[in-house]
Amino acid sequence: MSADDTPRTPVIGILVGSTRPVRAGRQLADQIAELARLRSEADITVIDLAEVNLPWLDEPKMPALGDYQHEHTRAWARVIDGLDAVIVVSPQYNGGYPAPLKNAIDTVYAEWRDKPVLLVTYGFHGGSMAAQQLTQVFGVVKANLLEPPIAISATNDDRDASGHLANPCELVERHRAQLEVGFAAIHTALGC
Ligand SMILES: Cc1cc2nc3c(=O)[nH]c(=O)nc-3n(C[C@H](O)[C@H](O)[C@H](O)COP(=O)(O)O)c2cc1C
Repeated sequence: MSADDTPRTPVIGILVGSTRPVRAGRQLADQIAELARLRSEADITVIDLAEVNLPWLDEPKMPALGDYQHEHTRAWARVIDGLDAVIVVSPQYNGGYPAPLKNAIDTVYAEWRDKPVLLVTYGFHGGSMAAQQLTQVFGVVKANLLEPPIAISATNDDRDASGHLANPCELVERHRAQLEVGFAAIHTALGC
């Protein structure tokens, strides 16, 4: 087999949907990434919107036209385009999901089409309202939403005095069965 015939390792992005300075999102995403690396041969990469620092949508044309004017938009498009699947890790904020995540979705368009997307929401009761909204929006951009979405319940008992998750490993372990189903759905979608 020549080097060109070597199958490419799929890349799964874990998108951190919250950007607050003290947040559970990055802790959860890192922990989910560790679990995913244990059971997957894919390349698992955490994409933190707090680090991407995408500007608020400032494209003069509708992103659906694909005529991106700004290099930061083209860079974000390359990030999403380069992922074979995305695990979106989102909190529930006041019955919805965070504005920076909506901005990250809306900034590009075609790059989401047919992209396998697994939703992982969290909140006191699993963030189901955020999952409902994300389901609607990812449906509009024609992503391949994988079922079932994963709901992580985190109460105040799961936090330390600073507001961080006291034991993200234990929290993720508590939801491991759901996450394993999600990882399997991604692998089925990727045909590997
Ligand atoms: C602005 C805001 C609104 C929130 N609204 C809800 C909510 O509607 N339902 C819920 O279960 N938790 C809610 N929470 C609690 C969050 O689920 C919890 O703080 C979570 O850790 C937020 O994610 P983050 O730490 O990654 O930002 C809210 C938190 C914030 C900051």
